[in-house]
Amino acid sequence: MRPGLFVLSATVGLSISVFSLSALAAGEKREDDGKWLTPDDTITYNVKEDGAVDWYTYNGFRRYHSECHVCHGPDGMGSTYAPALIDSIKNLDYYDFAEVVMSGRERKLADGSSSIMPAFGDNKNVSCYGEDIYAYLLARADGAIERGRPRKRDAKPEGAKETESACH
Ligand code: HEC
Repeated sequence: MRPGLFVLSATVGLSISVFSLSALAAGEKREDDGKWLTPDDTITYNVKEDGAVDWYTYNGFRRYHSECHVCHGPDGMGSTYAPALIDSIKNLDYYDFAEVVMSGRERKLADGSSSIMPAFGDNKNVSCYGEDIYAYLLARADGAIERGRPRKRDAKPEGAKETESACH
């Protein structure tokens, strides 16, 4: 009779989802891996009590100031050339915003010239971060963050790193 060796290996994976019941109350935003979403699942911003903004909003600040501020003015305040996006954003949902930013827009003015918003669909510094720029402008429009670079921010979420490398 040969001795038998039985090895029992049990791997128990526990996955626990913890969510706040209060976040389910009507109209409240929720967090998903560092990204803040409205009840209808579009991007929004978050500012903690110590002033730290979520990473996406901070990234939106950076992208805005590298690609948009030359025309739309610092901090979304507008210029003689292009509208103040901190006002525009109040009337634009994310999808309308993304449409204008990706496809551009041209409007004929009374004097025969054109007011042109260039298309950014081919510019990955913008097209990969449309949500971030939107979140930043929302935070500015609501007065949740001051002018200038936010002093504190959350760490970059894993999801942001993955989305970024997939987009570029
Ligand atoms: C070369 C100048 C220029 C740059 C750069 C630019 N814009 Fe514009 N943008 C304009 C002009 C001019 C308009 C107004 C177009 C019109 O009259 O309809 C406009 C309009 C818009 C609108 C619509 C506003 C409204 O009230 O309906 C949005 C949204 C917008 N831009 C977002 C952006 C974002 C985001 C960026 C950076 C990624 C950007 N723009 C960069 C010139 C620019």
